[in-house]
Amino acid sequence: MNTISLSDKEFELFSNLIYEQSGIHFSEMNRSILETRLRERLKVSSQPDVMTYYRLIQANQDEMKVLLDSVTTNLTKFFRNTGQFQALENVVIPELISINKSSSTPLIRIWSAGCSTGEEPYSIAMVLKEKLPANFQTEIVASDLSLKSLMIAQEAFFNEAKVEGVPHEYLLKYFEKKQGGYQLREEIKNMVKFDYHNLKYDSGLSNIDLLFCRNVIIYFDDAAQRAVINRFWDSMSANSFLFLGHSESLFGMETQFEFFKTDWAVLYRKLLLKRSHHK
Ligand SMILES: C[S@@+](CC[C@H](N)C(=O)[O-])C[C@H]1O[C@@H](n2cnc3c(N)ncnc32)[C@H](O)[C@@H]1O
Repeated sequence: MNTISLSDKEFELFSNLIYEQSGIHFSEMNRSILETRLRERLKVSSQPDVMTYYRLIQANQDEMKVLLDSVTTNLTKFFRNTGQFQALENVVIPELISINKSSSTPLIRIWSAGCSTGEEPYSIAMVLKEKLPANFQTEIVASDLSLKSLMIAQEAFFNEAKVEGVPHEYLLKYFEKKQGGYQLREEIKNMVKFDYHNLKYDSGLSNIDLLFCRNVIIYFDDAAQRAVINRFWDSMSANSFLFLGHSESLFGMETQFEFFKTDWAVLYRKLLLKRSHHK
């Protein structure tokens, strides 16, 4: 038996609960994914049937977390969407330098929301290390609701296939070749602080200058997307930048964010104080 069959009622119960807990929306189309994951969880937690398991997750937050972890897609890679990283290097970082140039101790705060196994925040950390002037401090927070992914992220050990997108000079400079893969060096690893966070709730973060939330809200429905985007707005600083995934957009959403078109990618901006002169 590779899967279990949920009745329509059971499917509705589980998909509603998952949605309430995380914003992740299971449609009929990905019903079989839910069924496969539930089969695995039933087996591991030795539950006789889906409704007993349903009662278990309602009563037990830890098992709820494990279920949420198991239904997420954690696919990621280093320097995913090169256009966005070019925009970061060529437009966003120069702009941040210009905004902060009068400060003697400039601090740039970054949040990678839905960071999966760490490739995204580590890519950002390498670019900032290379491109920001030495007097600039950074604080990079990377969060996810997948504890499994966060543990891998914290190890910072990546096999040959995983480091494929890393530019050669960065690979030489910031990774140590070991048996079976590459260990990210401490100077980059220590720049990123990982944290468990469910985007369904307020993060408590504030004054974020760069927010990456890529390939995460694609799994949410409209209402959950709007709620997350509004919370992002509140946690960001004036003149800050928001990076969404390639196939995600704020188009059609009522939001205060402005489209920010660069030659390499479309980003979003929270503009309060002054308008940028970039395209
Ligand atoms: C496809 S990965 C994207 C990783 C990375 N941002 C990238 O673009 O390569 C999506 C991540 O979002 C996380 N995620 C999904 N729903 C979430 C939620 N409600 N709160 C926090 N993280 C969530 C998943 O656990 C997964 O690691």
